[in-house]
Amino acid sequence: MSDPIEPHPSSFVIFGVTGDLAARKLVPALHALQRSGSLHPETVVLGFGRSELSDDALRQRLGEALAEQLDGPLDDAWHHLSERIHYLRGGYDEPDAYARLAERLHDVGHGDHIYYTATPPQTYGDIVSGLADAGLAEEAEGYRRLVIEKPFGEDLDSARSLNALVLERFKETQVYRIDHYLAKETAQNLAVLRFANTLFEPIWSNRAIDHVQITMAEPMGMEGRGSFYDEAGVVRDVFQNHMLQLLALVTMEPPARYDADAVRDEKVKVLRALSCADPETAVLGQYTAGRSAPAYVDEPGVAPESRTPTYAAARFELHNWRWAGVPFYLRAGKRLEAKASEIVLTFRRPPHVPFDLPAPPRADRLILRLVPDEGISLRFNAKHPGQGIELDRVGLDFAYQGKYQRPNPDAYETLIQDVIEGDATLFMRADEVEVQWKVIAPLLAATDAKRPLPYAAGSMGPVEAAELLERDGRHWYRPRRA
Ligand code: BG6
Repeated sequence: MSDPIEPHPSSFVIFGVTGDLAARKLVPALHALQRSGSLHPETVVLGFGRSELSDDALRQRLGEALAEQLDGPLDDAWHHLSERIHYLRGGYDEPDAYARLAERLHDVGHGDHIYYTATPPQTYGDIVSGLADAGLAEEAEGYRRLVIEKPFGEDLDSARSLNALVLERFKETQVYRIDHYLAKETAQNLAVLRFANTLFEPIWSNRAIDHVQITMAEPMGMEGRGSFYDEAGVVRDVFQNHMLQLLALVTMEPPARYDADAVRDEKVKVLRALSCADPETAVLGQYTAGRSAPAYVDEPGVAPESRTPTYAAARFELHNWRWAGVPFYLRAGKRLEAKASEIVLTFRRPPHVPFDLPAPPRADRLILRLVPDEGISLRFNAKHPGQGIELDRVGLDFAYQGKYQRPNPDAYETLIQDVIEGDATLFMRADEVEVQWKVIAPLLAATDAKRPLPYAAGSMGPVEAAELLERDGRHWYRPRRA
């Protein structure tokens, strides 16, 4: 069943339309919405960029990128959408370009506007000011929504300044700060699992949970993003946003309603109680050559002497009643052996075991998989058939694939539709971004102070990361797929 189409068509302005994000994520998402009938058939896409390009050349270019992704011929949905794609050349710091944008929107567009910053982060300020100075933030003739890509700032101070600038020109309700992890089905399912069942919530605390692990392991390296990544590093790239957002979804209190204000209030509250336990014990790594992959420092765009970490693991604590005493171990890295984004909740062991067993029973685990094979698994002990008591490790598994015919929508498809519908639940609020930078600040300080430990591309990160848990008598859960 597709969602009801918005009554009015909107104009979707993509700043940085010739870049990678537009071709790889935004246009395919618009195409998917068009195909499923969820996009208003008169929606206009206005691409803005610095290159000299005609409307047709842009359509051609985006069509080729889409065909590659679809792995097949372009369909009617694309032909319909592409007729409504236009291009405008301009510099992001050129006031005149925004005046031309206003004219063009008037000529080819509609009253409702969405502005999307698919540009390098240093342009965000110019775009916000340019739009507002040209009167494009005023909502007299329709809505004006601003979607800001991550990274939102590079530390607490810069995030605060950017928030101040944005909120001087736009209202918070007009702003949609992206964290695409929030739109992954399993991330959204966390709230449903916890708050639409009675089974889990009573055991969702330090009374039953021993510890939580959040892993974001990626086999890929820089893929052309070397110069961006070398400035950012793993902590800014994924810890500050995706990892902390997942942690917040796991730990927040039940909101009274599932809406943007209530959900974000709860996330902010729990993030305020979070701290990096001891930045001294955090493990930072950088990949060296391995399994026919180059070393990080040999990737295009990376400085040869770079000390940027491509891997981090750290222990966090939550200082509140529900979670006091439960460690949260977070790890993320590039060029790792496995592709896996997952949350693993490990339960306490039984207080007393009435059987004669060669070893104590293993702890039960609930595994929430975001990437790949989205789904939820429960691993627990059961009796092996036959005489006497022997334990077997068994599982209950829910996988989206197999259960549903249609593959899960890409996160960007969900997010774009939410912006069109004016639902900011899956976007970050100003205070949320700032508290995340605050939580991560000690880890950023550690990355400045420490030289990253080497790990071979294709391994599971620096061996020292194991010690982070071994010290507490625990070990990392091994992702199912290598
Ligand atoms: C992005 C990071 O936000 O998320 C990338 O900048 C990372 O470094 C990507 O690869 C992972 O997203 P996904 O959806 O492929 O798991």
